[in-house]
Amino acid sequence: MECKLISRYSPLLVLFLASLVNAQTVSDILHPNYDDPSSSLKYYDIAKALTLGCNITKEGDYELSWSKDGENVSEIDSLRDRYKIIKEERKFIISRALESDAGSYTCSVRALNASRTFNVVANVIVKFESTEIGKTNMVEGEKLSLHCVAFGTNPKITWTVGNATLSTSTEHIVLEEDDKGVENARLTIESVLLSDYTDYTCEARNNATDITGKPAQVTITVRIRGKYAALYVFLGIIAEVVVLCAIILICEKRRNKTEIEESDTDNSPDQEKLKK
Ligand SMILES: *[C@@H]1O[C@H](CO)[C@@H](O)[C@H](O)[C@H]1NC(C)=O
Ligand SMILES: *[C@@H]1O[C@H](CO)[C@@H](O)[C@H](O)[C@H]1NC(C)=O
Ligand SMILES: *[C@@H]1O[C@H](CO)[C@@H](O)[C@H](O)[C@H]1NC(C)=O
Ligand SMILES: *[C@@H]1O[C@H](CO)[C@@H](O)[C@H](O)[C@H]1NC(C)=O
Ligand SMILES: *[C@@H]1O[C@H](CO)[C@@H](O)[C@H](O)[C@H]1NC(C)=O
Repeated sequence: MECKLISRYSPLLVLFLASLVNAQTVSDILHPNYDDPSSSLKYYDIAKALTLGCNITKEGDYELSWSKDGENVSEIDSLRDRYKIIKEERKFIISRALESDAGSYTCSVRALNASRTFNVVANVIVKFESTEIGKTNMVEGEKLSLHCVAFGTNPKITWTVGNATLSTSTEHIVLEEDDKGVENARLTIESVLLSDYTDYTCEARNNATDITGKPAQVTITVRIRGKYAALYVFLGIIAEVVVLCAIILICEKRRNKTEIEESDTDNSPDQEKLKK
């Protein structure tokens, strides 16, 4: 019974085993330098070098080809004169990588019918728009708008305001996407309250920071003065002047009085003498 079953399915079994072995050898021939093998991911920092490596484990003089999004890298305009291939080390290097260099890269050896694909992701950087750096001192009732500019592949922004973490708008704080289409990049408070005096942190994550465990962050402290604070200072100065004047006046009066009294007593003996 069992033998019958096996003999009936043996051709299928052989095919199945053969395909397993084949898959095994094909994936073993090339060794890519992934940062995360489970997602075939390689990340880089913008303006730094991106180095893809693809070792060939099989003995022999094989030619390795590199392509991006299915096109030979030698035929891509945006890569012209920006990359080098080190044949002996099986490396493809972009020495100063741009945000737009992210994508799907493939190393392949045609003679072996072998290829491996890299998901190349640009790590995230964030900064506040430069015009906002000096605008951290505000008066109650003014409009606060912060633009957190994120560079990198597909960044996801969350904000921390004081001790609260926000990933969507609240009644008071509005979060919107910016011109680049990055969600939550703009934070707006139409009319600030004294209680909005706190730290505002923009944090961005993507597939690269999920691996490094280090999201990109930038923080700004927004200081808010009461509407009448300046008036109070002015009134305080006036009050101070008034009090000082009053003290001086009172002192002057007292001194005059004692001088008169003293001259009275000084005079009295003379007067007595005169009387004598
Ligand atoms: C590729 O080969 C080089 C030199 O033998 C070795 O240093 C490197 O670790 C290898 N890389 C991978 C991803 O296997
Ligand atoms: C890619 O271009 C290089 C240089 O022109 C060439 O040597 C290589 O064979 C090409 N690879 C493929 C897969 O077409
Ligand atoms: C190369 O591999 C593909 C799929 O992995 C297969 O369809 C094709 O027949 C193979 N070619 C050769 C020449 O082995
Ligand atoms: C967060 O801040 C609010 C108001 O500033 C306060 O009421 C609350 O206790 C704080 N929560 C924590 C966990 O610090
Ligand atoms: C990033 O991760 C998400 C979810 O984990 C996945 O859907 C997406 O394809 C990844 N992107 C890249 C470029 O690897």
